[in-house]
Amino acid sequence: MRVLVTGSNGLIGSEAVVHFSGLGADVVGVDNNMRAVFFGPEGDTRWNQRRLEREAKGFSHLELDIRNRDGVLKLLETERFDLIVHCAAQPSHDLAARMPFEDFDVNAGGTLNLLEGVRRHQPEAVFVLTSTNKVYGDAPNELPVKELPTRWEYAREEDYTGISEECRIDRCLHSLFGASKVAADVIAQEYGRYFGLKIGVFRGGCLTGPQHSGVELHGFLSYLAKTALTGKTYRIFGYKGKQVRDNIHCRDVLRAVHRFYEAPRPGEVYNIGGGRANSCSILEAADLVAELGGGRLKTEYVDKARQGDHICYISDLRKLESHYPGWKVEISLRDILSEMIDSWRVRNRHTA
Ligand SMILES: NC(=O)c1ccc[n+]([C@@H]2O[C@H](COP(=O)([O-])OP(=O)(O)OC[C@H]3O[C@@H](n4cnc5c(N)ncnc54)[C@H](O)[C@@H]3O)[C@@H](O)[C@H]2O)c1
Repeated sequence: MRVLVTGSNGLIGSEAVVHFSGLGADVVGVDNNMRAVFFGPEGDTRWNQRRLEREAKGFSHLELDIRNRDGVLKLLETERFDLIVHCAAQPSHDLAARMPFEDFDVNAGGTLNLLEGVRRHQPEAVFVLTSTNKVYGDAPNELPVKELPTRWEYAREEDYTGISEECRIDRCLHSLFGASKVAADVIAQEYGRYFGLKIGVFRGGCLTGPQHSGVELHGFLSYLAKTALTGKTYRIFGYKGKQVRDNIHCRDVLRAVHRFYEAPRPGEVYNIGGGRANSCSILEAADLVAELGGGRLKTEYVDKARQGDHICYISDLRKLESHYPGWKVEISLRDILSEMIDSWRVRNRHTA
């Protein structure tokens, strides 16, 4: 089996490399460390690339910018892949507002380059796009919520299962990042539906794991654990710190990607996240980090929510679970955080 992973230095991409190389596949990873351009030295992902080069058998790294149309088309013309897992992206709302061209060119343009390369040169390949729940913009905030001591909660029982793929994606506020991801999401669906390609679109909630290079602008759980450990101050933006996210370990994400590869569908969309069991607010996450020995988080409250930020977002996983029976979230929030704390301890030691 040959697999192409874009964004292979990043969180989900590197997990894709580990997953498929662990099964004996040849994996080509494309990444140009653009995360360091987006987020500065803290977002640098070369450490993860070196880890893969050391540890993942059958892995080779290709320094390629997915905006380079000729380079992407050439790659797909000259090398064959059974599966393409597309994870390269600009992932932050705030950065998109500062760098709108880079954001759109990477998220939308880069995705188009890959899809067209697949259509022209290897239409039999399975293609997975890591999309995001931000394609729903702030529409999920229209659900009524009630305030509990440590979190916001859906007020109506029928909403408890969370946000499904039926949630609308337009006529709401997205941020430019959400809009560029909508473009990628819809065009990927179109290559599936119009051209009959085997394309799965996975709309992630909070995808995370020990190798996450969380920064203030992206990767909340990872950044929270790191901040607690280093004794620095975590800024909470609005909603009293009771905003809820559902967190899924990237290994569980890759298990779903693998199931899709085994039984692909043309242009299908799935929500993927930790679901209710792995949901937490910022306040609850801070308590859990302290309980797990990661230190008590110092916080500063900024009385203004990030524009369009979800108040309570829990992914409804029923469609994914029904199309791929046996797949379910296996790694608990507690285990995710324990792994994360251990990983930051090691990484902080190396950078100290
Ligand atoms: N992490 C999350 O919570 C989350 C949630 C929902 C959706 N997603 C989606 O999952 C995907 C992967 O996210 P992630 O958290 O692994 O992000 P990440 O930032 O950790 O990884 C993305 C990688 O892509 C690389 N990259 C960026 N621009 C590139 C370019 N032009 N050419 C080549 N490589 C480039 C970066 O250097 C980085 O290593 C993204 O599409 C993101 O929108 C992530």
